[in-house]
Amino acid sequence: MENNIWSENIQGVLMLDLSRELRFRNDRKDLFLNIVGLKEGMTIVDVGCGPGAITRKLSSWLGNETKIIGIDRDTTFINYAKEKARKQNMYNISYLEGDALKLPLEDNSVDACISHTVIEHVPNREFLLEQKRVCKPNGRVSVMCARPDKYIKTEPKLLPKQSEREMELLDKLFKGTDEMYKKYNVGKYWPDPVELPTLFAELGFKDIQVDGIAIPVAIDDARNSYDEKVVIFETQKEQLLEVVNMGLYQNKNGLSDKEVKELKQLIEERFGKRLELIKKRKYIWDYTILLLHVVSGMVEN
Ligand SMILES: C[S@@+](CC[C@H](N)C(=O)[O-])C[C@H]1O[C@@H](n2cnc3c(N)ncnc32)[C@H](O)[C@@H]1O
Repeated sequence: MENNIWSENIQGVLMLDLSRELRFRNDRKDLFLNIVGLKEGMTIVDVGCGPGAITRKLSSWLGNETKIIGIDRDTTFINYAKEKARKQNMYNISYLEGDALKLPLEDNSVDACISHTVIEHVPNREFLLEQKRVCKPNGRVSVMCARPDKYIKTEPKLLPKQSEREMELLDKLFKGTDEMYKKYNVGKYWPDPVELPTLFAELGFKDIQVDGIAIPVAIDDARNSYDEKVVIFETQKEQLLEVVNMGLYQNKNGLSDKEVKELKQLIEERFGKRLELIKKRKYIWDYTILLLHVVSGMVEN
């Protein structure tokens, strides 16, 4: 039976896929691979892989001798990930629809498990124990959690602002839709950074490491070509439009058709102004530096 809880109610394909493409940029490959200890030739599982952006990065970074398995219980994400990997001729990735708490894998069968922004949403003990079960001796389990409470986010004066009307329409659209977010702990993070490595130790992991990855997302950064700047801009706009569509799916009567049209137009206008600044090569330095908290541990011999 299909399960589309996440993709229909919480975060859509585009929101996850595009934002992760930006987070795991090629110029940060070595940093990322070193921190989570991934090497060519390993069998690696991405638990809760969503639409698969990280699995595709691993495929291109680590080559054909590496086997990558993406697992998620959302049917839409798995179908999307399969199709995208097929189109990109990435035959060393396989995708399985399945529960992170009951992984469809044999005991002691993989070299590493990674996950990105998943542990926050599931019973965390069972989540880690299941990955411990499928890892070979000396295998590594790495968990990456976002810390939105620690992000650096600029709000430059020249950034086209959300109008009061846009905010009012968005509020109206999302009124009463937070039940689902509460149920799946969306927007939550580890309240105390001591707890996660402590849990790894309690569950018998060895060689526990804590780390952090800071990820700047900055349109005006000199390393971005003009086309890359436009991609970041488009990503931000598409994510917001998808959020609106998801709000409409959850709360069909939240806005009238006229209000939906008005809201989308206000979003297009605001983003249109930002695009004009990019075209004129006017730098305004609207950026975010995201922080990922990473904890990993080794499965004993
Ligand atoms: C915040 S998203 C992150 C997706 C992906 N790791 C990424 O960063 O793009 C959380 C993901 O966990 C998946 N998920 C939540 N609970 C799950 C479970 N019990 N088993 C498998 N996947 C689960 C959701 O379907 C969703 O794809």
